Amino acid sequence: MEELEKLKQELKKLNIEYAKIKDVAIEKRAAFGRELNTKKTAIMDKIAKAEEALLDRKVEALDVTAPVAPNEKMPEVYSVFQGSKHPLMTELDRVVAIYQSMGFDVMESRQLDDEYHMFDSLNFAKEHPARDGYDTFRTEEGLIPPAHTSTMQNRVLKSYKHLLEEGKEIAVVVPGRVYRNEDVDATHEHTFYQCEGVYVSKTCTMGDMLGILREFFEKYYEQKLNIRTQPGYFPFTEPSLEFMIEKPKALGGKKGDFLEMLGCGMIHPNVLKMAGIDPTEYHGFAWGGGIDRLVMLRYGLKDVRYFESGNLNFLREFN
Ligand code: DAH
Repeated sequence: MEELEKLKQELKKLNIEYAKIKDVAIEKRAAFGRELNTKKTAIMDKIAKAEEALLDRKVEALDVTAPVAPNEKMPEVYSVFQGSKHPLMTELDRVVAIYQSMGFDVMESRQLDDEYHMFDSLNFAKEHPARDGYDTFRTEEGLIPPAHTSTMQNRVLKSYKHLLEEGKEIAVVVPGRVYRNEDVDATHEHTFYQCEGVYVSKTCTMGDMLGILREFFEKYYEQKLNIRTQPGYFPFTEPSLEFMIEKPKALGGKKGDFLEMLGCGMIHPNVLKMAGIDPTEYHGFAWGGGIDRLVMLRYGLKDVRYFESGNLNFLREFN
């Protein structure tokens, strides 16, 4: 800035010199004029350069997000603050990749759904108490943030049923964010993630389903696992099962320490019918389970609330 001011003063003085030209002897006037012009050009060049440099600095000062005064250098401590992928998203990608490697297609769930997809299309009888078991939130308009990824079953069946007509099978997984109106504690969150699986063909059996699930869990935990099932109840499957794995020794488990990982079963004939698929010709199985629980076991996490907490110390442990 100072330099620019000095140059401008020089230019002013020079302009005064020009006025003296009339006092200079006629034969010397041309040389006098040339000398002044050369000086003027030099000063003008310097002024242009100084202005350009100033402009560059001004552009630098336009970073409105900088946590320092304009024109100050960003301290080192800020330049190491980098965002990163949330651990749940990293794990969800791994989950989906395993199913993809087994030939499954992927369809995403949605954040807002309706009564039909949450309950009716899944064979929940009207006014049936099982509807209350899902602790659903509702918007003022009566829409439902999905309480499970099963809300997508009807859409999956409808969008992929052309494959059945072509003699192929339906094999789709649906990762998604789900919401439940329940008290939050170390093992319950109001917002969490699930992954749903839907498989339909002419010949599939429950044995195929258990094979797929075993394969998935063994790939996810990178070891052989003992599995077990017990009877469950879901209106959209018949029979319904709860699928369990024995907690691996490496993850602190003891023999006989079985954990319930997901719900599953053979798709109820009414669910197939509602999507326009003939249940006398085709059979299917489906499953759905929480991603948070899967990840907690893998990393030995004791509290599900970390995931939605935005706690940087927690998040940095995964980078
Ligand atoms: N939607 C169920 C839940 O969130 C889990 C489930 C059970 C999904 C059985 C399925 C199924 O697809 O067949 O509790």
